[in-house]
Amino acid sequence: MASLFNHHPFICSLLIIYIISTTTTTTNAAATFRPKALLLTVSKDSSTLQYTTKLIQRTPPVPVTLTLDLGTPSTWVLCGNRYVSSTYRPATCGSTQCTLANSKICRTCPPPARPGCNNNTCRSLSLNNPFTNITPRRGGELATDIVRINSTDGSNPGQLVTIPKYLFVCAPKSLLQGLAKGVSGVAGLGKSKLSLPCQFSSAFRIPQKFALCLAPLRENGVVFIGDGPYNFSPNIDVTTLLSYTPLIHNPARSGNYFIGVQGIKVGGKEVPSINKYLLSINRKGSGGTMISVNHPYTLLETSIYKAVTTAFDQQLRNSSFPARRVNPVAPFKLCYDPTSLSFTRIGPVVPDIDLVLQSEDVFWRIAATNSIVRASDNAYCLGLMDGGKNPRTSILIGGFQIEDNLLEFDLNKSRLGFTSSLIYDRIRCSFFNFTSNVL
Ligand SMILES: *[C@@H]1O[C@H](CO)[C@@H](O)[C@H](O)[C@H]1NC(C)=O
Ligand SMILES: *[C@@H]1O[C@H](CO)[C@@H](O)[C@H](O)[C@H]1NC(C)=O
Ligand SMILES: *[C@@H]1O[C@H](CO)[C@@H](O)[C@H](O)[C@H]1NC(C)=O
Ligand SMILES: *[C@@H]1O[C@H](CO)[C@@H](O)[C@H](O)[C@H]1NC(C)=O
Ligand SMILES: *[C@@H]1O[C@H](CO)[C@@H](O)[C@H](O)[C@H]1NC(C)=O
Repeated sequence: MASLFNHHPFICSLLIIYIISTTTTTTNAAATFRPKALLLTVSKDSSTLQYTTKLIQRTPPVPVTLTLDLGTPSTWVLCGNRYVSSTYRPATCGSTQCTLANSKICRTCPPPARPGCNNNTCRSLSLNNPFTNITPRRGGELATDIVRINSTDGSNPGQLVTIPKYLFVCAPKSLLQGLAKGVSGVAGLGKSKLSLPCQFSSAFRIPQKFALCLAPLRENGVVFIGDGPYNFSPNIDVTTLLSYTPLIHNPARSGNYFIGVQGIKVGGKEVPSINKYLLSINRKGSGGTMISVNHPYTLLETSIYKAVTTAFDQQLRNSSFPARRVNPVAPFKLCYDPTSLSFTRIGPVVPDIDLVLQSEDVFWRIAATNSIVRASDNAYCLGLMDGGKNPRTSILIGGFQIEDNLLEFDLNKSRLGFTSSLIYDRIRCSFFNFTSNVL
């Protein structure tokens, strides 16, 4: 790998200056409690397949549901006249907040004063809907307000903790289009000083890392912010199951999380004829492998898709119990008759797909639970998609492939901890004990 992409530590701590000072001056008793880690509860929306979470924001406090995104630098929330809060503060031009958000646009209001126009406030242009890729030309007002989330000891949700000045961007109503019903914005988990994990870990001086454990439909998943343990029933700390791979810095897309896939194996055999050039990141920032929860299924560049699906299909059909293909169920292309597959307690027996990382013995295994989608009673399909001939990123690892895996994004060490499917260890993301341990 070129030196350009080598270890690139990333520091959230600039924020300490303005958040900690305000945290300690608030009169709220909870502010004196120093949590070890924090927690978000995650659900999956059945129509958009987006992963959503809930924060408590504003004064008086209201629950705000947001879609999670690993590529969005700062949280954005619908403002406008339904946003009522006595602690809302637009960021004044020239303030630290505007500098942090790299916002150079200052809004002035022509007299006379009118509601909705806050004079001398800065606007962030990094406002984007990652599902429609719409970016409002005028950006959105940068502002702070109170945000509360649950703390955790790694085993249960604990008491709520407060950031008095959580920095976010105000979005117009039109930007919500394409988001799940009931959602009023996007929780930014991108590699940015303004991301939700960065702001909370800076404010409470906890390690700059977060761990994602996404659950399938109708179950709850979890995001931890800070160090483990990450305890799941029956009392297993998942930090003991982690393997590690470097997070690769892509200068052209510095807010996204890339990992260095070197090759792909299907059923333990190297998939031939994968163009290695596509697996690396070129000078323009194209290629490589990115993790993105805004795609429900992994996307592979066309030639990689063909090579992997061909190998998978040949092995399944050339076994002692040959699988039978059935008509594909959209959006999938490769589907099998479940009665022609053999099963274990966990699911169908199919070749594992291994993403080989920095060396032969470090790989991310995509086993049946993360490769086979039960598209209908009569069709079990390979949950990979053709990403097209010239995608910007060659491999986009999507939501279905990371469900019931735990992924720890360690920002300070610039590495990803990953488990592959926890189901083989008899753990599911929903096995976190969501009962609060606060009386
Ligand atoms: C906004 O500020 C500018 C200069 O700072 C001033 O000229 C203008 O009158 C102000 N607008 C309102 C509505 O107060
Ligand atoms: C099919 O299986 C046979 C026997 O195991 C093996 O010799 C052959 O190479 C296999 N073909 C493919 C395409 O995997
Ligand atoms: C980040 O890592 C460096 C060493 O690489 C360490 O000195 C520093 O304390 C860490 N910062 C935080 C906030 O964990
Ligand atoms: C905090 O945890 C409790 C218990 O699981 C839950 O009822 C509540 O909704 C959580 N609050 C937030 C803001 O996530
Ligand atoms: C979940 O946590 C609560 C509170 O600590 C505890 O009372 C309960 O026994 C736990 N449930 C399980 C299944 O461990």
